[in-house]
Amino acid sequence: MSASRSPDDSVAIFRKSWTLYDAITERNYMFHRELYAEVAEQVAQVGRFGPFRLLDLGCGNARFLAPCLAATPPVHYEGVDLSAAALAEAREHLKTLPAAVFHQQDMLQALEEGESTFEILFSGFAVHHLDSAAKQRFFHAAARRLKRGGRFLLMDVVRDEGQSRDEYLRDYLGWMRTTWTEIPVEQLEEACTHVAAYDHPEQFSDLVQMARRAGLTETPLRHRFERHYLVGFVALESSRVNSE
Ligand SMILES: C[S@@+](CC[C@H](N)C(=O)[O-])C[C@H]1O[C@@H](n2cnc3c(N)ncnc32)[C@H](O)[C@@H]1O
Repeated sequence: MSASRSPDDSVAIFRKSWTLYDAITERNYMFHRELYAEVAEQVAQVGRFGPFRLLDLGCGNARFLAPCLAATPPVHYEGVDLSAAALAEAREHLKTLPAAVFHQQDMLQALEEGESTFEILFSGFAVHHLDSAAKQRFFHAAARRLKRGGRFLLMDVVRDEGQSRDEYLRDYLGWMRTTWTEIPVEQLEEACTHVAAYDHPEQFSDLVQMARRAGLTETPLRHRFERHYLVGFVALESSRVNSE
């Protein structure tokens, strides 16, 4: 969601039904398989230190996070999404978790207004809906909501250094149209329209700057498949002082 747009518009494609997004991710067009394998590893690493809590921002239907958490269950899971349809499916996918709660809410608002802290914050392919100012607020709030030593795992699309948003979109939409060949043309164009209207990916260096300004430190975790990244940040300082 861009701060200037209604959140309702940017998630309309996810509210109607998950069929299109599921069709895209099933064919691994956004590299969910590889990226979530690494998330599973990160979650397992944290789980080895003891009980942990996880906040999932823009959780969607949590279809790919669910197996990671089945392998290493958190003592508490919170999923936030604007889409009721997504949350209904997420409840089903995560029904074996002992303590899972869901909020139909704007993720930035949830992050900024909440008080409880987490060992893991996770966000998959949702932060690019925020404009730059909102992303910076997101990082500040994330730092505040992480326990000391807690990790923020950010999975998202990223622009090349020096690439404008228009250049990125030309590139990404072209790649979608030539690579996502198993998606029926009409649905593919629906996905392209959504991306063109609502995707605001940052350059990697700008994400790192935003994280540093919020008091977060990069971890060695960085995976890239085409434009799709998984990066890790850690709260080395007390989570309460970072956003002061
Ligand atoms: C592309 S899906 C990603 C789903 C899942 N996390 C994944 O990794 O595949 C993006 C999700 O973010 C949600 N979303 C987008 N902007 C949001 C906002 N401002 N607040 C809460 N949810 C948002 C959408 O409703 C959608 O469910």
